[in-house]
Amino acid sequence: MVYLCSNCGADFPKWNGQCPACHEWGTLSEFKIKKRSGNRPDREKRTATALSSLLNTIATERISSRIGEVDRVLGGGLLQGSLILLGGSPGIGKSTLALQIVANVDQPVLYVSAEESGEQIALRARRIGLKTGSMHISGENQIENILDEISILKTSLVVIDSIQTVFSNDIDSLPGSVSQIRECGQQLLQACKQSGVTVIIIGHVTKDGTIAGPKMLEHMVDTVLYLDGDDRYDQRILRSVKNRFGATNEVGIFRMEANGMQPVENPSELFLAERTDGISGSAIYPALEGSRPILLEVQALVSAANFGTPQRNVNGIDYRRLAMLLAVLERRQGLVLGTRDVFVNLVGGLKVSDPAADLAVVSAVASGTLDKIIQSSTALVGEVGLAGEVRSVSQLEKRIIEAQALGFKDLIAPQGSVHRLNSVPKKIKVHGVNSVKEVFEILF
Ligand code: TYD
Ligand code: MG
Repeated sequence: MVYLCSNCGADFPKWNGQCPACHEWGTLSEFKIKKRSGNRPDREKRTATALSSLLNTIATERISSRIGEVDRVLGGGLLQGSLILLGGSPGIGKSTLALQIVANVDQPVLYVSAEESGEQIALRARRIGLKTGSMHISGENQIENILDEISILKTSLVVIDSIQTVFSNDIDSLPGSVSQIRECGQQLLQACKQSGVTVIIIGHVTKDGTIAGPKMLEHMVDTVLYLDGDDRYDQRILRSVKNRFGATNEVGIFRMEANGMQPVENPSELFLAERTDGISGSAIYPALEGSRPILLEVQALVSAANFGTPQRNVNGIDYRRLAMLLAVLERRQGLVLGTRDVFVNLVGGLKVSDPAADLAVVSAVASGTLDKIIQSSTALVGEVGLAGEVRSVSQLEKRIIEAQALGFKDLIAPQGSVHRLNSVPKKIKVHGVNSVKEVFEILF
């Protein structure tokens, strides 16, 4: 008998109100786990290997998915023998994307889906226009049988859609339960490391994390990808939050269309497509998603509060950050916001946590409050401090290049970062500033 944490998957011999490993409350529950026999290695047998002898045998071969956005997020393609977790909320497009990734690979592929029938998957593949030559579909949901099938078919790439539907006979709890997910994850990990098969595990995650599971697989797998997006929009963002073999925080941007997930090569154009000129309360900000610059529009609407407590409504940026920025505007710039409702929206359903967005947020709010328009060819970047000072941001060069490429004429940026630029950009005028006050003098 053990107690398993549904949040991190750690196990303990005794029950605790708080998980000693991840400090979540009320996540431990009791499970029966069957001891595997013959687990203990023979004392006489050596299991250590000389590190140098492994150098020749390491799999460094990457399999290209032929989808640039995916390959970049993975750090150059699927690494042979790696275990990849693809998480996301139900209906966001995980199955579609996984199918597109494996269909382009010239290797025997096994797509295991207990969620959908083979016909449904075939229909989807036809709708997207995928070639399915080297692909096998299986509706099996017992992990031991799946592993047999992998070795019989000699597949080198496997998709498990989804981890919540597979189960092991060794454990008597329902598929999707914490102990099943952990056991199946471990068996797949073993298969990866022993036979060099590459496995993509799909896992459903809900926004509030109510479906137990995928989170605790995170520490077991090599790469964790999350497919994100607002289901009211068709933009989808693939993020790597963990990658043992590449950079994290890289993103790939897609649109969910009738014929599958379409990579978006120029996201800035997508996010600025519906921008209306000549309206107050709009500011453009060159964001960085991973190594990639994307221009985003921040919109603010400020109106007289009709009821007692003024509303603060925010989409896409942190609520507390907004509260701080509004306080700076009140105290340092003398803007009266205490009696007004403030709505701030990052257009396109994206979320940013980069403080470099601050300057665009305060400018959009000020523009909305004063009802003065910010020139549509001006972009703003900078972190705002409590004294109303504008602080340096990372990778200004990249942001400048992107703004320049989209025809922006002026970029307002922290003086501290402008000083560090190696060259003066030609097609865009970069205004170095030290305080929000200076910014407003330029803008309004
Ligand atoms: P799906 O890949 O099944 O999501 P998940 O596996 O994450 O649950 O995709 C679900 C949604 O995507 C569904 O509402 C239909 C839509 N869709 C498209 O818009 N275009 C397509 O080509 C496909 C296959 C699906
Ligand atoms: Mg699915």
